[in-house]
Amino acid sequence: MKIGIIGAMSVETDALKEQVKDAVSETVSGIEFVSGKLYGKDVVVAQCGIGKVFAAICAQTMIIRFGVDKIINTGVAGTLSDKLGILDIAVATEVVQHDMDTSPLGDPVGLISGINIVKIPASPSLSDEIAAAAESIGAKCVKGVIASGDQFINNKKRKNFIKSSFDAIACEMEGAAIGHVCYVNGVDFAIIRAISDNASGEADIEYPEMVRKAAAQSTAIIKKLLEGKS
Ligand code: ADE
Repeated sequence: MKIGIIGAMSVETDALKEQVKDAVSETVSGIEFVSGKLYGKDVVVAQCGIGKVFAAICAQTMIIRFGVDKIINTGVAGTLSDKLGILDIAVATEVVQHDMDTSPLGDPVGLISGINIVKIPASPSLSDEIAAAAESIGAKCVKGVIASGDQFINNKKRKNFIKSSFDAIACEMEGAAIGHVCYVNGVDFAIIRAISDNASGEADIEYPEMVRKAAAQSTAIIKKLLEGKS
């Protein structure tokens, strides 16, 4: 069993990469993949870069070149829910691409043509394990739809659109692309995101500090998850 772990930014992956034992590094399509043992489990860890295309390149490479059985996407997100405050944890039940829109052709907003679905389900068992790991380190964890798009959400209008269109609890820029790649390849995936900001442009002055703290929170949960996994 090999687990792929993807984060977009160095703050989301560096602490994990540093802990990989017997590490072997290989760069493919400009992305460094670090393979080895992390807390006793076979992993490959990569920082994919920001946005859906980099995330898709990374997930597909993990599957066809590194043979991962599951992918976990870790990192930070903006909150779309009153239940999720800064540094709380969102775990995806499903993912959606909020900027996928062929509605002028009569489709529902978010529909992925070809596979004809809007929301892609995450692995229930892996997501449950992640939620349990989060709760065991005292984090507040909420499960729900996580929405991704190639936009940093920083205004109320777009925030409310995403929230109301998809009943989403958090927004970020990679998870649904990873979910899409996993879906077409028949690979399980899960998304864990610690909340770094309110996605509305209000009171975001501490963003750089919150990103660091939120990313550390996600990393701590991955550690707990892998240590406990059989
Ligand atoms: N990642 C962290 N916060 C985000 C936001 N507000 N929008 C998109 N991605 C994010």
